[in-house]
Parts: sequence; C-alpha cells; structure tokens
Amino acid sequence: MEKKELLYEGKGKKIYSTNDEYVYIAEFKDDLTAFNALKKSQEDGKGALNCKITTELFKLLELNGIQTHLVEKLSDTELAIKKVDIIKIEVVVRNIATGSLTKRLAIDDGKELPFTLVEFYYKDDSLGDPIINDEHCLILNLVNDVKELDVLRAMGRKVNDILKPFFYEKGLTLVDFKLEFGKDKDGNIILADEISPDSCRFWDVKTKEKLDKDRFRQDIGNVKVAYEEVLRRILGENR
Ligand code: TMP
Ligand code: ASP
Repeated sequence: MEKKELLYEGKGKKIYSTNDEYVYIAEFKDDLTAFNALKKSQEDGKGALNCKITTELFKLLELNGIQTHLVEKLSDTELAIKKVDIIKIEVVVRNIATGSLTKRLAIDDGKELPFTLVEFYYKDDSLGDPIINDEHCLILNLVNDVKELDVLRAMGRKVNDILKPFFYEKGLTLVDFKLEFGKDKDGNIILADEISPDSCRFWDVKTKEKLDKDRFRQDIGNVKVAYEEVLRRILGENR
C-alpha cells in the first residue's frame, strides 16, 4: 500500500491517503497532550504502544460483532484503516465517576455509578469539546436523526460490555473511555479513531494505581511504563 498525502494531523495521529481511495493510513504519534493541548510533551515509543493496543482491542471488538475501521496493522506505528466520515461527537462511556464528571457534578471521585453512563461531547477543539445533549447534536447537524444517536449509545454500551470484563480478568478496572465513530462508504456507522491509554482510564484492580494518560495529566510520571503494563495485560500476562 502506498502512503500518499497527509490529509489531517490531530493531537495523537496523522491521517494519510493511499493509492486505494477507500483506505487511509493512521500514523500514531509520540506526542502527549492534555487539557486541549495546553499541556504538551513527547514520549518515545508511545505511538507504537497505542498502535498495538488499539489493534488488539479493535480485533477483539470485531470478533464480538463491533465493526471498526481497522483493515490491518502495517508497521509499529501505522494502521491501514477504512475511509470514514468522522461523526463529530465524542462518545464517553463511564463506569466509575472521575475526571470531568466529578468536577462538573461534585460526585465523589471513585464512586461506582449505579449504571453505565454514556455522554456526548462536541468534537471541536476551538470550543474545548463541550458536553452536549441529543437536541444539540441535531441542531448542529452532527447526525441525521435520533436513531443514529441511539446507535452511538448502543455501540458505546456494547463496547463497554465487551471490554469491561476483558480488562477485569486482566486485573484492570475500565473506569471510563472515549470513542469516535464514522460513516463508511455505505453509510454504516463503524468504530473509528483509537482505544488506548490516551482515550481510556484504567485502574489496577488491587492497588487502584492509574495506568493511563492521567499519569501525564496529573504529573504522576512513568507514563510509558504504565502504557507498557496495559499492553502486557492485554496480551494475557496477568498479575
Ligand atoms: P473526562 O473525565 O476528562 O471527561 O474524560 C473522560 C474519558 O474520555 C477519559 O477516559 C479520557 C477520555 N478523553 C479523551 O479521550 N479525550 C479528551 O479530549 C478528553 C477530555 C477525555
Ligand atoms: N485529548 C485532549 C488533549 O489532548 C484532552 C485530554 O485528553 O486531557 O489535549
């Protein structure tokens, strides 16, 4: 596959066109950003770790009936992905209250939620990705109708139903995560972007140690060691 033009550069990935009009290449970067890129750093090897973790998790989701944009892993940091039109809604799924939820609503940090919470955020960096409801999504024309929002919610819950027990078996609590979806050439809504410690929160079941980007956000340190540990657990090496 031939890598052609750089189409888009986000905070964590670059997207290139290829000689196949329906296939793009996603290249995972070593850049680490937080708080809408107010805080920036670099971590050698982070891109490769997120590329591998995303590949493993997307394959697991595909096996369990979730369609994703993954075509194949091309190198340490590159995935061939299906071309999609990204839906500008960040779907956040939460099992335990932390992060912005605790700040916004004064819920105790670490409180297990009575049911899985699905939230929508408007994917717009210039606005700082504000939380939005169904009606905002329709007014902003982010989707065609409420049925599509129901699909996003259902897919978010299904991903949680697959990943939460998967990680629990590996000694990790899946606290919350963010998904992005896109429409493929046939108009199907499929899972896109990545699932990695950049976009999820993982806490060690026993020690409650944070093994995700909160280590960078909160200056805890050893970011790469934590991402390596998440990959090690995914690959089946439990503690
Ligand atoms: P939050 O508590 O900061 O709203 O984050 C919820 C989840 O979404 C958490 O797993 C981190 C992830 N996330 C992203 O992937 N990108 C973002 O821009 C933000 C704010 C959160
Ligand atoms: N994804 C955002 C950033 O990279 C915010 C965050 O993850 O904290 O700046």
